[in-house]
Amino acid sequence: MTNRSDGGRQLPILQRSIRYHRPRAPFCGVGYCTNCLVRTDQRLNVRACREGFPTRGVRATSHAWPSPQHDLLGVLDLLFPRGIDTLRGFRRPAWAVPAYQRIVRRLAGYDNPDSVASPPSSGPPRTRSVDVLVIGYGTSGAAAVDELKARGIDAIAVLDRNGAEGDGTMPGRTTAVFLPPPTRNAPYPFRVLASEGSERAVLVSARKVIVAAGGYDASLLFPGNDRPGVMTADGAFSFERDGIEPFLRAVVFGGGDRARKVVEKLGDRVVAVVAPGEVGPDLARAASDRGIPLYPRSLVLGARGRSRVRSIRIRARSFGPRQTLGADALVLAHRRIPHPQLFFQAGARMVWRPRVGAYLPAVDAHGATTVPGLYAVGSAAGAVDLDSSRASGRAAARAVAEGAEPGVDVTRSSPPEPPNEMQGYYRELLAEPEGFAKWIACPCEDVLLRELRRANEDGYRGIEVIKRYTGLGTGLCQGRYCVPDAVLLLSIWEGRSPPEVGYITQRPPVVPTTLGQLATLETPLSDPEAP
Ligand code: FES
Repeated sequence: MTNRSDGGRQLPILQRSIRYHRPRAPFCGVGYCTNCLVRTDQRLNVRACREGFPTRGVRATSHAWPSPQHDLLGVLDLLFPRGIDTLRGFRRPAWAVPAYQRIVRRLAGYDNPDSVASPPSSGPPRTRSVDVLVIGYGTSGAAAVDELKARGIDAIAVLDRNGAEGDGTMPGRTTAVFLPPPTRNAPYPFRVLASEGSERAVLVSARKVIVAAGGYDASLLFPGNDRPGVMTADGAFSFERDGIEPFLRAVVFGGGDRARKVVEKLGDRVVAVVAPGEVGPDLARAASDRGIPLYPRSLVLGARGRSRVRSIRIRARSFGPRQTLGADALVLAHRRIPHPQLFFQAGARMVWRPRVGAYLPAVDAHGATTVPGLYAVGSAAGAVDLDSSRASGRAAARAVAEGAEPGVDVTRSSPPEPPNEMQGYYRELLAEPEGFAKWIACPCEDVLLRELRRANEDGYRGIEVIKRYTGLGTGLCQGRYCVPDAVLLLSIWEGRSPPEVGYITQRPPVVPTTLGQLATLETPLSDPEAP
């Protein structure tokens, strides 16, 4: 399952896209996209990047035929170079609609559930009742836990996607998937549903919750943005962790600290740094130490290559000259987006922060949100470096330990910030004469940028309406990768600010959760009597 052509030594092609069967290789590396779904004897749609590459003992999903590398249905991509009109097509003649539906159902979807025997859910049901639940054990979450313990609070549970069973505070590798608004006057107002591995669920009742969910590397829109070889910095690091070299000549996209990290870790295989704006001094130093050329204030016009990236076309902004950079990968390190889902679910007031280009919860000096007992720390609360992440974790833990009343002033507006750098970037990119061709706006569902534009011109406005009409943001990544950019594009097309474009409704679960996992619960999530 590896593509060894053109020096791209070990880039696995594990999937095909859902509509056009375009080849897909791992993109995010952290278990959110759909590019590395494989199957085992007993489980469907396992994310190979979460199990650790290389993917021994796994098979391709039945979605591609005969294999993801040589999928005959890939002809659909060639037959429809401008895309299939899924919004208006397949309606006539009326008598043929049932046949269309049968065909579409057969072609789409990620696997056949009848083809594996699901393992029975095992082990005793898991429920926990604690004083404080900490979600996320990165820099800020760990600082919060240390501070809580130093202050004598030991009834703590920690949920972390990469966690290990340890001193009893962590149930293992566990993801919080549902954080409903707290139940007023209950002894344990918060009841958090978490998924443990892929077999069991955990129900945690807590008096207070500190969310340190962190963030992830954003995607980027350009023609060919779904080609094998385009990956986030998280993705590149995950390959590295598993001893795989997915590229030999990468272009890094980004001008800040995240891009500097990529250059420092993988610099011997980086051929250029392209930045949407200015290049930061630390990145410039790291690149010049390694003889890597810099292309500040530049647009990525496209990636060439079909079964993997072969070159990247760029242009200096303000109508500068075009260039083609020979490369077998594009590593995206231009923007980190905080995970907002749990705050939306809990009903916290969310504020659009142009600097980050994302929604963050409104918090007071201790990280308290507008939901009593719910705190946000680290990058989930807007911290920009390790020191401020640590400080925010400790401040929230102190406030929890001392029982401080939250002081979020909901009427206070944030100081004005300049528009997000990517808004101006996309404004210029959309003015390119080449049009949208087959830009993939939502890789999980293969929704095209031209479909968004057409829907918007037809009067569908705002991200929630666009989501419902086009299907953008309804795939397995839950809109993590497509929605942030779609919000910026809609704000440009509609002539409104991103907060006016809105955000999609955040429905649980945060990550796909099986009914089998829910069946392992001892008490239902909605049982208000349960401690
Ligand atoms: S690469 Fe594994 S889920 Fe994205």
